[in-house]
Amino acid sequence: MSTDLETPWVEKYRPKEFDEIVSQDISTTNLTEFVKNRFDMPHMIFSGPAGTGKTSTALIIANKLLKGDKYYRNVLELNASDTVRMDFVRNELNNFVNQNMILSENEVKLVILDEADNIPKTVQQTLRRIIEGSPPNVKFILMCNYINEIIDPIISRCAVFRFLKLSEEKIVERLKFISKQEKIEVPKEKEKEFFEMLYFISAGDLRKAINTLQMSVALHLLKDLDINEILKISGFVEKPIMEKLVISLLKGNYKEVKMIFNSIKNIDSRNFIRQLNRIILSIDNVEKKNILKLKIFFGEIDYRISQGADENIQLIALLSEIFLRINKQNKN
Ligand SMILES: Nc1ncnc2c1ncn2[C@@H]1O[C@H](COP(=O)(O)OP(=O)(O)O)[C@@H](O)[C@H]1O
Ligand SMILES: [Mg+2]
Repeated sequence: MSTDLETPWVEKYRPKEFDEIVSQDISTTNLTEFVKNRFDMPHMIFSGPAGTGKTSTALIIANKLLKGDKYYRNVLELNASDTVRMDFVRNELNNFVNQNMILSENEVKLVILDEADNIPKTVQQTLRRIIEGSPPNVKFILMCNYINEIIDPIISRCAVFRFLKLSEEKIVERLKFISKQEKIEVPKEKEKEFFEMLYFISAGDLRKAINTLQMSVALHLLKDLDINEILKISGFVEKPIMEKLVISLLKGNYKEVKMIFNSIKNIDSRNFIRQLNRIILSIDNVEKKNILKLKIFFGEIDYRISQGADENIQLIALLSEIFLRINKQNKN
């Protein structure tokens, strides 16, 4: 068997059993019990960042509860684009929940609702009434990134499971496992750097890590292991450019800093901030108190951008703050 590039590896290596879900604090013992005593199973909320196993866990539950063609009849999978529409929630979801004719008494029905935090609050109120009014054989699993976007009356009716970003160790372990299965040859001398970089790109999102691995193989970037090319296609700036930028910052040549910054095409500001953050905070000759101030400033800029501030202006503000902090310190 050779490397399989036809199927997306995120699907191929999606966990099929609870004990394959790695690194989550969630109690799989609870989940196993829930599935055994299906009618006592609570409604659930899976909350946490992307690529941490929420959908996989929901699908394992669904597959354990409903085998074969029952799955198609009794599972309703929706995402936010379906549920932002009030009429859809009122009519179709209600129909599914209350239509019990074709089911025998002891069948469970499952509603799996992805991106629940994107459902408008008014629609969530309707959803809440549907959850309250649904027969005991209907179970809801809601998934979200931010639980504070879900209204309290829904939260209080659900068992909440929090999914955490995966650690570097766990991500690398999984990537190595997949690499072995797919017979991928990573040049030995660059192996460490390669997996470290995949983790950095992923930021704890295993889906992104696996996709980047597959993309690197598909684009034949592994043989000579072109780390910069992988960074580039993942929306990050190539290492040599980042290094030049940092050298100009340290040298105190602001004109050069701006010139290098302006030469970077299609910058992804949040990725750029992460890259810059990692380099700056690891430089030895930046004083502790400046590191702390810069850390806060990095967070501030990231927040402003997330709130819709002009990205270019914010990045330049960030660069000039770093510049001032480093060079004020050097003059003293
Ligand atoms: N905790 C985990 N354990 C094992 N694999 C995971 C985990 N989290 C994510 N994955 C991998 O990443 C892919 C996407 O996971 P998924 O469950 O869809 O994440 P989410 O729904 O939290 O965004 C899965 O196919 C699987 O390969
Ligand atoms: Mg998901």
